[in-house]
Amino acid sequence: MINPDLLRQELQEKISLVSSLEELNQLKASVLGRKGQLTQYLRSLGELPLEQRKILGAQLNSLKVELESFFLARERELEEAMIREKLEKGRVDVTLPGIRPPLGRRHPLFQVWEEIEDAFLSLGFDIYEGPEVEWEYYNFGALNIPPDHPARDMWDTFYITDKMLLRTHTSPDQIRCMEEQRPPIKAIMPGLVYRHEAVDATHMDVFVQIEGLVVDKDTTFADLKGILELFVSLIFGPGRKTMFVPSYFPFTEPSAELLILWDDEKGHNAAGGKWLEVLGCGQVHPQVLRNVGLDPQVYSGFAFGLGVERIAMLKYNIPEIRLFMENDLRFLEQFG
Ligand code: PHE
Repeated sequence: MINPDLLRQELQEKISLVSSLEELNQLKASVLGRKGQLTQYLRSLGELPLEQRKILGAQLNSLKVELESFFLARERELEEAMIREKLEKGRVDVTLPGIRPPLGRRHPLFQVWEEIEDAFLSLGFDIYEGPEVEWEYYNFGALNIPPDHPARDMWDTFYITDKMLLRTHTSPDQIRCMEEQRPPIKAIMPGLVYRHEAVDATHMDVFVQIEGLVVDKDTTFADLKGILELFVSLIFGPGRKTMFVPSYFPFTEPSAELLILWDDEKGHNAAGGKWLEVLGCGQVHPQVLRNVGLDPQVYSGFAFGLGVERIAMLKYNIPEIRLFMENDLRFLEQFG
């Protein structure tokens, strides 16, 4: 004879002992499933006499409802336990020291590039940029260097076609700048330039120049010297030894070069007190002004083109220009 109370006790105990959801589901199927124990009992009620069937039927049906809620409650418990365990395992100890990701830094060349830009911005210059792939006309012709003129040999040029080349200097941006803006102009034009040149300790086939251009009604060579001396003191501090020497460029007249003594403030030097040429400069040639439609009787100007690597070499006492391109971390990590 079935005893519903005993059955309840027995199943309640089994349910409480189950330790995983999988086991619980199996147990549930074996009790309440289609072929489960209780289902079978309910089915076999029909074989009993009416009175007994009524009583036992009611008891078994309420037992079924009870069991269903037992199963549900245990299911919840097991789920909660699982979540708790997961959280426990995944807990992070926030007091442990972290792993510092390796931090990059700006390339020393770009640091100096930016410093030079800041210096000129502080002197009231704008920044203007032109293309690296340039027309022969802007790189040479408009700068008063006609085709076949021997001055073209001053720049060993990578030609792309007859008319197109990799710019050999940033001076073509002077022309672009004057074609786009009317004076007064006071701008710097930074960028990469290319030369088909043998690489050595102070020469690379790609390097960074910063062009400067001032065009107005009453500019003088003294203004040019003054600006460049101010610039040197902004970058190197006061007292850095400089020297202007006469030079020749087809697009400036008169022309000069600025040399800086290779000597840091402590008297150390990487190149035995050598003078290093850092820029070419001069007053804008009247023909260049005419080429962009400016009247040289009314306007005058001055220009300069400086080598950023050379400034960086002097500033950090680096004797070897190739270090900037080799990307050796032992070198790069010494800056900033
Ligand atoms: N463009 C010249 C060079 O690369 C430098 C320069 C610029 C000279 C501006 C005078 C004026 O050699």
